Amino acid sequence: MAKNLVIYYSRRGENYFGGSIRSIAKGNTEYCVDFIKNAVGADVFEVETVKEYSKDYTTCTEEAKAEIKSGERPALKKMLDSIADYDNIFVCGPCWWGTYPCAVLGLLEKLDWNGKNVFGLMTHEGSGLGHSDRDLKKICVGANVGKCLAINGSRAADSEREVADWAKKCLR
Ligand SMILES: Cc1cc2nc3c(=O)[nH]c(=O)nc-3n(C[C@H](O)[C@H](O)[C@H](O)COP(=O)(O)O)c2cc1C
Repeated sequence: MAKNLVIYYSRRGENYFGGSIRSIAKGNTEYCVDFIKNAVGADVFEVETVKEYSKDYTTCTEEAKAEIKSGERPALKKMLDSIADYDNIFVCGPCWWGTYPCAVLGLLEKLDWNGKNVFGLMTHEGSGLGHSDRDLKKICVGANVGKCLAINGSRAADSEREVADWAKKCLR
Protein backbone atom coordinates (compact mmCIF):
# COMPACT_ATOMS: atom_id res chain seq x y z
CA MET A 1 0.00 0.00 0.00
CA ALA A 2 1.25 3.51 -0.87
CA LYS A 3 2.65 5.48 2.03
CA ASN A 4 2.06 9.17 2.56
CA LEU A 5 4.12 11.75 4.39
CA VAL A 6 3.41 15.37 5.26
CA ILE A 7 6.39 17.68 5.75
CA TYR A 8 5.29 21.00 7.20
CA TYR A 9 6.24 24.22 8.93
CA SER A 10 3.73 26.42 10.73
CA ARG A 11 4.35 29.36 13.03
CA ARG A 12 2.34 30.05 16.16
CA GLY A 13 2.28 33.56 17.57
CA GLU A 14 1.28 36.81 15.90
CA ASN A 15 -0.17 36.51 12.45
CA TYR A 16 -1.96 38.67 9.95
CA PHE A 17 -5.69 38.12 9.38
CA GLY A 18 -7.35 40.13 6.64
CA GLY A 19 -5.90 43.46 7.74
CA SER A 20 -5.26 43.01 11.45
CA ILE A 21 -2.74 41.19 13.61
CA ARG A 22 -3.87 38.42 15.97
CA SER A 23 -2.03 35.95 18.16
CA ILE A 24 -2.75 32.31 17.35
CA ALA A 25 -2.05 29.14 19.33
CA LYS A 26 -2.31 26.90 16.27
CA GLY A 27 -0.69 27.90 12.98
CA ASN A 28 -2.80 28.20 9.83
CA THR A 29 -0.87 25.53 7.96
CA GLU A 30 -1.24 23.19 10.92
CA TYR A 31 -5.02 23.07 10.35
CA CYS A 32 -4.47 21.99 6.76
CA VAL A 33 -2.02 19.30 7.84
CA ASP A 34 -4.68 17.81 10.13
CA PHE A 35 -7.18 17.86 7.25
CA ILE A 36 -4.75 15.98 4.95
CA LYS A 37 -4.05 13.46 7.68
CA ASN A 38 -7.76 12.86 8.29
CA ALA A 39 -8.53 12.59 4.57
CA VAL A 40 -5.81 10.26 3.31
CA GLY A 41 -3.73 9.15 6.31
CA ALA A 42 -0.09 10.20 6.55
CA ASP A 43 2.93 10.29 8.77
CA VAL A 44 3.85 13.84 9.71
CA PHE A 45 7.21 15.58 10.02
CA GLU A 46 7.21 19.07 11.51
CA VAL A 47 10.08 21.36 10.57
CA GLU A 48 11.21 23.14 13.74
CA THR A 49 14.09 25.58 13.84
CA VAL A 50 16.62 25.63 16.69
CA LYS A 51 16.38 29.40 16.80
CA GLU A 52 12.69 30.25 16.82
CA TYR A 53 11.48 33.04 14.59
CA SER A 54 10.14 36.02 16.44
CA LYS A 55 6.55 35.82 17.70
CA ASP A 56 6.20 39.47 16.70
CA TYR A 57 4.82 39.52 13.16
CA THR A 58 6.77 42.44 11.73
CA THR A 59 10.07 41.32 13.26
CA CYS A 60 9.49 37.85 11.85
CA THR A 61 8.92 39.21 8.34
CA GLU A 62 12.25 41.04 8.61
CA GLU A 63 14.06 37.93 9.88
CA ALA A 64 12.64 35.90 7.01
CA LYS A 65 13.61 38.55 4.46
CA ALA A 66 17.18 38.62 5.77
CA GLU A 67 17.39 34.82 5.51
CA ILE A 68 16.24 34.85 1.91
CA LYS A 69 18.73 37.58 1.07
CA SER A 70 21.66 35.70 2.60
CA GLY A 71 20.47 32.26 1.41
CA GLU A 72 20.56 31.02 5.00
CA ARG A 73 19.39 27.50 5.85
CA PRO A 74 18.49 27.62 9.57
CA ALA A 75 19.48 24.68 11.79
CA LEU A 76 16.63 22.29 12.59
CA LYS A 77 15.77 20.69 15.93
CA LYS A 78 15.50 17.30 14.24
CA MET A 79 16.32 16.06 10.76
CA LEU A 80 14.37 13.90 8.39
CA ASP A 81 17.14 11.70 7.07
CA SER A 82 15.25 9.79 4.41
CA ILE A 83 11.93 9.69 2.59
CA ALA A 84 12.71 6.31 1.00
CA ASP A 85 9.74 4.65 2.74
CA TYR A 86 7.20 7.05 1.21
CA ASP A 87 5.50 7.27 -2.17
CA ASN A 88 3.56 10.53 -1.78
CA ILE A 89 4.86 13.60 0.01
CA PHE A 90 2.81 16.67 0.83
CA VAL A 91 4.95 19.76 1.47
CA CYS A 92 2.93 22.28 3.50
CA GLY A 93 3.88 25.69 4.76
CA PRO A 94 3.14 29.40 4.88
CA CYS A 95 4.00 31.74 2.04
CA TRP A 96 6.97 33.77 3.25
CA TRP A 97 7.97 36.34 0.67
CA GLY A 98 6.61 34.21 -2.14
CA THR A 99 7.83 30.76 -1.15
CA TYR A 100 8.33 28.31 1.72
CA PRO A 101 10.39 29.47 4.74
CA CYS A 102 14.15 28.91 4.28
CA ALA A 103 14.04 26.20 6.95
CA VAL A 104 11.70 24.15 4.74
CA LEU A 105 13.73 24.76 1.59
CA GLY A 106 16.89 23.70 3.42
CA LEU A 107 15.33 20.39 4.42
CA LEU A 108 13.92 19.70 0.95
CA GLU A 109 17.36 20.28 -0.58
CA LYS A 110 18.85 17.48 1.52
CA LEU A 111 16.43 14.71 0.48
CA ASP A 112 16.49 12.25 -2.42
CA TRP A 113 13.32 12.89 -4.41
CA ASN A 114 13.80 10.42 -7.20
CA GLY A 115 10.51 8.75 -8.15
CA LYS A 116 8.43 10.48 -5.46
CA ASN A 117 5.04 12.15 -5.97
CA VAL A 118 5.08 15.62 -4.44
CA PHE A 119 2.15 17.92 -3.70
CA GLY A 120 2.57 21.41 -2.28
CA LEU A 121 0.11 23.22 -0.05
CA MET A 122 0.69 26.83 0.86
CA THR A 123 -1.27 29.09 3.20
CA HIS A 124 -1.01 32.78 2.43
CA GLU A 125 -2.54 36.24 2.83
CA GLY A 126 -2.89 37.13 -0.83
CA SER A 127 0.09 35.73 -2.76
CA GLY A 128 -1.43 32.31 -3.38
CA LEU A 129 1.25 29.77 -4.21
CA GLY A 130 3.74 32.55 -5.00
CA HIS A 131 6.59 30.75 -6.77
CA SER A 132 6.54 27.79 -4.37
CA ASP A 133 5.35 25.34 -7.04
CA ARG A 134 8.25 26.30 -9.29
CA ASP A 135 10.63 26.01 -6.35
CA LEU A 136 9.36 22.51 -5.58
CA LYS A 137 9.98 21.47 -9.20
CA LYS A 138 13.48 22.89 -9.03
CA ILE A 139 14.46 21.41 -5.67
CA CYS A 140 12.73 18.02 -5.79
CA VAL A 141 14.84 16.65 -8.62
CA GLY A 142 13.44 13.46 -10.13
CA ALA A 143 10.04 13.86 -8.43
CA ASN A 144 6.69 14.20 -10.10
CA VAL A 145 5.26 17.46 -8.72
CA GLY A 146 1.48 17.36 -8.94
CA LYS A 147 -1.20 20.02 -8.52
CA CYS A 148 -0.43 22.38 -5.65
CA LEU A 149 -3.06 24.06 -3.49
CA ALA A 150 -3.17 27.60 -2.07
CA ILE A 151 -5.35 28.23 0.99
CA ASN A 152 -6.02 31.66 2.43
CA GLY A 153 -4.50 31.53 5.91
CA SER A 154 -7.35 33.47 7.53
CA ARG A 155 -9.73 30.76 6.36
CA ALA A 156 -7.47 27.75 6.93
CA ALA A 157 -9.48 26.48 9.90
CA ASP A 158 -12.59 26.30 7.69
CA SER A 159 -10.91 24.71 4.68
CA GLU A 160 -11.37 21.04 5.56
CA ARG A 161 -13.55 20.10 2.59
CA GLU A 162 -11.30 21.84 0.03
CA VAL A 163 -8.10 20.40 1.47
CA ALA A 164 -9.54 16.90 1.86
CA ASP A 165 -10.94 16.86 -1.71
CA TRP A 166 -7.60 18.03 -3.09
CA ALA A 167 -5.58 15.49 -1.09
CA LYS A 168 -7.81 12.62 -2.20
CA LYS A 169 -7.58 13.71 -5.85
CA CYS A 170 -3.79 13.96 -5.57
CA LEU A 171 -3.60 10.29 -4.72
CA ARG A 172 -6.02 9.06 -7.37
C1 LIG B 1 7.69 36.12 7.59
C2 LIG B 1 6.36 36.17 6.90
C3 LIG B 1 6.29 36.48 5.55
C4 LIG B 1 5.06 36.45 4.88
N1 LIG B 1 5.03 36.72 3.53
C5 LIG B 1 3.86 36.60 2.86
C6 LIG B 1 3.80 36.80 1.45
O1 LIG B 1 4.80 37.08 0.79
N2 LIG B 1 2.60 36.66 0.85
C7 LIG B 1 1.45 36.33 1.53
O2 LIG B 1 0.41 36.21 0.92
N3 LIG B 1 1.49 36.14 2.87
C8 LIG B 1 2.65 36.26 3.55
N4 LIG B 1 2.68 36.04 4.91
C9 LIG B 1 1.44 35.59 5.60
C10 LIG B 1 1.45 34.07 5.81
O3 LIG B 1 1.80 33.38 4.62
C11 LIG B 1 0.09 33.55 6.26
O4 LIG B 1 -0.38 34.25 7.37
C12 LIG B 1 0.15 32.04 6.56
O5 LIG B 1 -1.14 31.50 6.56
C13 LIG B 1 0.83 31.74 7.90
O6 LIG B 1 0.81 30.35 8.11
P1 LIG B 1 1.24 29.67 9.48
O7 LIG B 1 0.29 30.17 10.54
O8 LIG B 1 1.02 28.21 9.22
O9 LIG B 1 2.65 29.98 9.73
C14 LIG B 1 3.87 36.12 5.60
C15 LIG B 1 3.95 35.87 6.97
C16 LIG B 1 5.17 35.90 7.63
C17 LIG B 1 5.23 35.62 9.11
